[in-house]
Amino acid sequence: MLLRTLQLFGFKNHEDLRLEFQPGINAITGDNGSGKTNVLDALFFLSNGKSFFNSIDSQLVKHGSEFFSIHGWLDNEIDILIQFDPNRKKTIKRNGKAYKRLVDHIGFLQTVFITPYDIALVNEGSEERRRFVDYTLCQTSAAYLTALSQYKKALDTRNALLKANEGRRLDPLLLEAYDEKLAGPGSILAQLRREFSQEFLPLLQEVWGHLFEQSEHLSWQYQTQWNGTGSYLDFLRMAHADDLRASRSTVGIHKDDWIMELNGHSLKRLGSQGQIKSAVIAIKLAQFAYFQKHTQQTPLLLLDDIFEKIDKQRADALIAWVSNGRIPQIFITDTHYERIRSHTESMGLALTQHHLKNLHV
Ligand SMILES: Nc1ncnc2c1ncn2[C@@H]1O[C@H](COP(=O)(O)OP(=O)(O)OP(=O)(O)O)[C@@H](O)[C@H]1O
Ligand SMILES: [Mg+2]
Repeated sequence: MLLRTLQLFGFKNHEDLRLEFQPGINAITGDNGSGKTNVLDALFFLSNGKSFFNSIDSQLVKHGSEFFSIHGWLDNEIDILIQFDPNRKKTIKRNGKAYKRLVDHIGFLQTVFITPYDIALVNEGSEERRRFVDYTLCQTSAAYLTALSQYKKALDTRNALLKANEGRRLDPLLLEAYDEKLAGPGSILAQLRREFSQEFLPLLQEVWGHLFEQSEHLSWQYQTQWNGTGSYLDFLRMAHADDLRASRSTVGIHKDDWIMELNGHSLKRLGSQGQIKSAVIAIKLAQFAYFQKHTQQTPLLLLDDIFEKIDKQRADALIAWVSNGRIPQIFITDTHYERIRSHTESMGLALTQHHLKNLHV
């Protein structure tokens, strides 16, 4: 899908900003703090109904403003309008019609956001990797989206029960009633994560081999406490003693992780900074390929400061992959227009500059 126009009111540092995008490369330039990354975050918001960086919407309202809105016009006369006012509920409208439930918008438009913060995917704890997989699967599977929301609710109530009964005897039958609420969505998520992991690995290896070292072997393996045999209920029941001792749910798919290795060695512990950066770029481009395969439409590709943070060899490899005729529109931020121009001139795509003025300077 092509995005034609973006209009922001009161979103982060942008009081009133209108950008007319073109097919090809949209270079978003400006000084540090002029709001380039904020524009990409607004595009992510259009797709996911929330910010990539900050889940507290009230903090996204421009200081001194009362509300924010993000309005995007896509091809085929489609427009998406998101409005947030701290005193009202957030609304998302498609072609003027508000969704009854915000989650119904998820899956309509995908974005792949490559940012300098992506190294957290390798360097930080398992929560980062679950967030990545959850986002990817929520965009492509309604069953996953529903199960995830049910699981989170069931886990919160089960943990609250265990916490409230800390140090006391808890009726095992009561705990089992809570297990039942967790087991249904838990086993669905486990199954879908397993399938996803199997499908994602070859996509990742394809991108990796194309972009970087053919000789280095990158792996991505699903690690879960439940092995998929037997019933999920039994698996929960066997952890009751531990759960009561810890006053929280000690086992389940909320502990899942994905282990990344390069040539059989932990990427997190032994990978060089360059290898980690390369791996996260490959993961994001594999996500792009996964979205394309499952939605039959092209996601928005957002590249934040990509040329500043990676070396020339990696930047060229990335550009070679994206210029393969598969991406009709790309959004790239940089403080220097010339840097975007020199890196992308070989792509043969139209290049349009959108320069943001830093109003505070
Ligand atoms: N709610 C808000 N109200 C006003 N300003 C905000 C708000 N949230 C963020 N900002 C401002 O947005 C600016 C940062 O914008 P952004 O990160 O998009 O800049 P950038 O152009 O990407 O800069 P860089 O080149 O350093 O990456 C900061 O000055 C920050 O104070
Ligand atoms: Mg930035």
